[in-house]
Amino acid sequence: KQELYKKAIAVLDANFQDGGFTIPSAGLYPFQWKWDSGFIAIGFAHYDVEKAKTEMRTLLDSQWGNGFIPHIVFHTDNDSYFPGADFHQSELHPLSSKKYRSTGMTQPPVSGFVLQEMHRIAEDKDDMLSFIKEEIDKVFDNHVYFYENRDPQDEGLVYIYHNWESGTDNSPVWDDIWDTMNPPEYNFVRKDTTHVDASQRPSKREYDHYLYIIDIAKQNNYDDCKIAELSPFLVQDPLFNAMLIKSNQALIELYELIGGNEEKIKTLLNWQAKSIKSFNEKLFDVELGAYVHYDLRNEKAIRHITSSSFSPLFANIPSPERAKVLVNTMMDKFGGDDRYLCASFDPTSDRFNPRKYWRGPVWINMNWMLFLGLKNYGFLDVAEQVKKDSIELIERYGFYEYFDCRKDTGDENTTGYGGNNFSWSAALFIDMVN
Ligand code: DGY
Repeated sequence: KQELYKKAIAVLDANFQDGGFTIPSAGLYPFQWKWDSGFIAIGFAHYDVEKAKTEMRTLLDSQWGNGFIPHIVFHTDNDSYFPGADFHQSELHPLSSKKYRSTGMTQPPVSGFVLQEMHRIAEDKDDMLSFIKEEIDKVFDNHVYFYENRDPQDEGLVYIYHNWESGTDNSPVWDDIWDTMNPPEYNFVRKDTTHVDASQRPSKREYDHYLYIIDIAKQNNYDDCKIAELSPFLVQDPLFNAMLIKSNQALIELYELIGGNEEKIKTLLNWQAKSIKSFNEKLFDVELGAYVHYDLRNEKAIRHITSSSFSPLFANIPSPERAKVLVNTMMDKFGGDDRYLCASFDPTSDRFNPRKYWRGPVWINMNWMLFLGLKNYGFLDVAEQVKKDSIELIERYGFYEYFDCRKDTGDENTTGYGGNNFSWSAALFIDMVN
């Protein structure tokens, strides 16, 4: 373990860049990604506090005039990634950053709970709290952006308008949305499949859908009202909303530590009450025994079980009784002696694919959230199982991006999947073994 710990630090340090940010994985992901950055900062906080602060400072510095924080910040002109800054053209939005080029979509709102984790980990709490004091209002403004622009029915649940905003890029959940669309065939050169075997990545046809949604946003200068009106993809995602709720709670507790800020705390408490209520009423599927996604464009639930279905445990959303139901569903469908926890998609579904990105493989960031959530609800054995499996996968295969959930794949040449020396796998390994 000691060796692996050193290796994890080496992965993070090698991926840290001069511009004050960390790439998720060399080649495949050469810029700064929003949710990656947050998980990476948690890893740095354990051994290099200044890097942790720099990572978050750079990310929050990319914030737009309306509080929005983008999913990718293109710090360099690297052309090994598609679609790059020239495709996204987020500068079409009048309030976009004047300092950085970026995408015009976002990613799960990790920053609030990441600041709180950095404070939990820090030895010098005063020093960390003064850093947090400098940055925290940006995170609050980001949440204001979400509730004011991404909640057209005023439910306390925010939408995402692109599958890349979910973080779970090619989840089989989105297949239901692709069935409602028929985008043109785009002419473009993929870069991801020059770095990673195509069998582990989304299909060409899936990319047509991804690009088409961006085109619609671009035609409307990334105007949120227009997107809400026109985007064929408009989804209330349980993972995204659970992370927002978790981050709201973190902001409340951090503002209390800082003192003052009563108005902001009041606003946050109001969001929490409304969001948690709607989340439980709207996103829980009693028959499936799990939280599901909701298609806001077509006004219907998307009834599949994913690792995102269990993420509300991380944000204290379900009642203790409902948490038990969730854990039973998880053990029943995703568990078993022959499998590592936790597959990203229901292994009993015919859409499950153990090698393909978010269609089945185990992801360390999801496991990290599940571990903390399960522990918080007192499911200590399952929590330990999730942690043990995460560590075992990394010991067995290395710091890959994602992993096969089958302990025996029937192929002795099985490796980890996606990018290697992947930053958040290293960062969260550091946190889990600490
Ligand atoms: C990709 O290019 O697959 C990224 O994950 C998008 O965020």
